[in-house]
Amino acid sequence: MVEVIENIFNEILERNGITKLRLVKSNRPDLCDLQCNEVFKLAKSLNMAPMDIGNKIVKLVNEYPEFSKYFNKVEFAMPGFINITVSDYIINESLRNMDKPLFNITPSNQTYVIDYGGPNIAKPLHVGHLRSAIIGESIKRILKYKGNNVISDVHLGDYGLQIGEVIYAIKRDGIKNEDITLEYLNKAYPEMSALCKVDEDIKRECEQITKDMQEGNIEYNELCDIISKVSISDIKRIYDSLDVSFDLWDSERTAYKYIPELEDLLNKKGILYKSEGAMVIDVKEDSDTKEIPPMIFQKSNGAYLYGTTDMATIYDRENRFKPDDILYVTDDRQAMHFKQVFRASLKAEITDSKLEHLPYGTVNGVDGKPYKTRKGDAPSLSDMLEETKDGFIAKKEENKNMSDEDLNIITNAIIKFADLSNDREKDYIFDIDKFSSVVGKTGPYILYTYLRFNKILKEEGKSTILSDTIYNKTDRDLRMSILDLNNSFESAYTLRKPNYIAEYLYNLCTALNNFYQVNHVKGSDDNVKNDWLYIIELSTKIIKEMLSLLAIDVPSKM
Ligand code: ARG
Repeated sequence: MVEVIENIFNEILERNGITKLRLVKSNRPDLCDLQCNEVFKLAKSLNMAPMDIGNKIVKLVNEYPEFSKYFNKVEFAMPGFINITVSDYIINESLRNMDKPLFNITPSNQTYVIDYGGPNIAKPLHVGHLRSAIIGESIKRILKYKGNNVISDVHLGDYGLQIGEVIYAIKRDGIKNEDITLEYLNKAYPEMSALCKVDEDIKRECEQITKDMQEGNIEYNELCDIISKVSISDIKRIYDSLDVSFDLWDSERTAYKYIPELEDLLNKKGILYKSEGAMVIDVKEDSDTKEIPPMIFQKSNGAYLYGTTDMATIYDRENRFKPDDILYVTDDRQAMHFKQVFRASLKAEITDSKLEHLPYGTVNGVDGKPYKTRKGDAPSLSDMLEETKDGFIAKKEENKNMSDEDLNIITNAIIKFADLSNDREKDYIFDIDKFSSVVGKTGPYILYTYLRFNKILKEEGKSTILSDTIYNKTDRDLRMSILDLNNSFESAYTLRKPNYIAEYLYNLCTALNNFYQVNHVKGSDDNVKNDWLYIIELSTKIIKEMLSLLAIDVPSKM
């Protein structure tokens, strides 16, 4: 709707030889719907007083009978603003236009690769990986919703020191291949990782195993296959339960195949050079305000690193998909890593894709420190899901009687909405008690509202006609809330921030509940009731669809 009004507003200005001005959503919804903040700028360029040009524009806009149906009130506000209240007609016309697939979102058709999840083989998934999975899955769905071609890749960490450590343990313990189970891995990795911290010799041996594996040692690679298989089946089970899925299950190991080609190319371009025994790529730029160290391509002992596999992966992705944009969803501590890898890749001209790191912050517990389970250790994802479910059940006696399926859906909604309603770049406190409540900005509140209005539609039926009348303030507020969809979606899309959609959902649900509290939908005359059922149905459709962009499903009842 903002666009429609802006176009008409500017059409009028143009006819009168005035340059185009932008309209934005009002930050004082009690005064008006839209506002123009560019009067000052215009006045300056015309060498006029803001009040004079502002009043002139207001007069012009009010002069055209053919456009009067769009505006309810247009006024100048000191010191230099134009406030616009739109008409009931345009609100309803926009609502009618929204009731079609995609809700009027303008499509795009770029090719994206999105790299998220990033679990490490042989290590339990932890809460950090949970954020990557949840945020990445949502961004993937948002990109697709906009019509883009999106390829998702889990990019497993499966060829690093942790594998060398586990292979060391397998050999030390004399474990047969068929006895390499999830239980074994869950025990072996933490034990080895602790051991390597205190025993230099063992650590060196593990590093040697890792390097031999990377250089093609057959026995180690076979063990790595087995470890991966066991670990991946557990990872898949957890992702399934979160409704998170990937087109590609590629990994660091996949990237190893392309290192020789890449290395050749870098040598031809002359951008690899020796520094303290290692092969590195310089990535600093004149405009840097802080030091950006070179990216290490190969360590002095011949081993390749995280940056190397990431560069080789970009090389591979470019050849296979020719993406317009590659996105990485990881925690913010990897910002320097990606800066180096991106600069090195652009310098080497291995891609002309846009490269974006989408960082996220830490999940903290109510004590403000990184989230821990009640057992007190670094929580695995399964522990966190379990605790959330218990927290929700403890809320209300009846919750005990819900089906397992519904409980899982709600647990997911609690965790995902809590995560996604926060700006991903910020840390947040995971407070089960708060997030599992049906009041407040929570997943259960959105689900409850959806079910509530779905039930009303079931009882009262649906309506296919919407008139041009708006009946009162909460009614108008609801309609305006619905119309925020485009704006919110576009912000979520361009900034890669699902919290704009979560915020929209919360505002829409609040507007719906406020509306219903004041208006007696069920007891109203048919024409009024039809209008209201129309906007209720449009709202429920939008809620369901926007929830699906957060990968949140709806339960059968609550
Ligand atoms: N495995 C990495 C970690 O646990 C995340 C991988 C992210 N993706 C990438 N292409 N580097 O931190």
